Amino acid sequence: MKKYLITGGAGFIGHHLANRLAAAGHHVRVIDDLSAGDESVLDSNILFTRGAVSDQPKLWTLLHDIDCVYHLAAKVSLPQSILYPRDYNDVNVGGTVCLMEAMRAVGVKRIVLVSSGTIYGDQKRQPVDESVVPQLLTPYAVSKFAAEHYMFTLAQHYGIETVALRVFNAFGPGQALPPAYPPVVPKMLREILHGGTVVVHGDGEQTRDYVYIDDVVDALIRAGERSHIDHQVINIGSGVETSVNQLIKHIETVSHLPAHTIYNRERSGGVSRLLADLDKARELLDYKPRVSLAAGLLRIIQIDKRFQTDLLQPGVLRQAA
Ligand SMILES: NC(=O)c1ccc[n+]([C@@H]2O[C@H](COP(=O)([O-])OP(=O)(O)OC[C@H]3O[C@@H](n4cnc5c(N)ncnc54)[C@H](O)[C@@H]3O)[C@@H](O)[C@H]2O)c1
Repeated sequence: MKKYLITGGAGFIGHHLANRLAAAGHHVRVIDDLSAGDESVLDSNILFTRGAVSDQPKLWTLLHDIDCVYHLAAKVSLPQSILYPRDYNDVNVGGTVCLMEAMRAVGVKRIVLVSSGTIYGDQKRQPVDESVVPQLLTPYAVSKFAAEHYMFTLAQHYGIETVALRVFNAFGPGQALPPAYPPVVPKMLREILHGGTVVVHGDGEQTRDYVYIDDVVDALIRAGERSHIDHQVINIGSGVETSVNQLIKHIETVSHLPAHTIYNRERSGGVSRLLADLDKARELLDYKPRVSLAAGLLRIIQIDKRFQTDLLQPGVLRQAA
């Protein structure tokens, strides 16, 4: 049994990780300011503390005796980061520096940072591997890349083992649906399953690498346990490239519902392609994504009550994922 602290552990990825570690018998503490998260989704045996990742006194207490920190606390919207870059810098960069200082003070020796595939930007050659020079197109991307660099630099000085996982587009049950800038998968699911209109930015041919939450959690757990991965940056995705138009088709197929789609071609759909090269994840973590996009979408519909509408035929909820 090990002791973990998860920052941002009441968020989408964080709570799946926290609950899986707790179910495996580990001691899990979470710190989250609840600016986006929800503590009620955490298992009852997890020690939850409401607080900011920059709150040093709280961190000193929570870090006591911890074997490994997972650092997920962050602001996560690309478009919002353009409006409020200072906030993104304060939380995503400043929060990481505060956490590293607190780890030095308490003597915690291992940290896994959840970074993002977004930092690669628009690359001609796909899939992208970790040696590609990032193209930082948003303050969010800058903040995640800066957080990686701060973590690696400080870790070297403080004698802390570190690894950064660059997660691509994670999706799964419980992903937040904020009114402004919701992530694409739950946004499309909500529109199609409630009979609304799906608005696609651009022509819908832009591609992303959608990776199911259980695969992301597998990778995180391995990164927390493995030795000989100190100072590594590792991509975590599905290795499958999917356009927004294909995503909509997948949702129609698994839900047996038609999508009513309109295209806002004036508005950019973001970078044209993004696909993770997973060679390093396979080599260092024995990582193998197991859940396809279609199977993951079906699991969401079956698990997440927000998408179980009257429009669904009852058989869909009983299909094998
Ligand atoms: N979801 C994805 O596709 C994806 C992809 C790549 C990287 N990431 C990274 O994974 C991490 C988790 O993302 P998520 O999708 O679960 O988002 P999320 O918003 O659900 O989780 C982030 C959590 O951090 C908390 N938080 C924010 N500011 C905080 C602060 N100052 N102090 C303490 N807690 C704070 C929020 O309340 C929230 O619970 C983030 O670091 C994000 O950058 C996510």
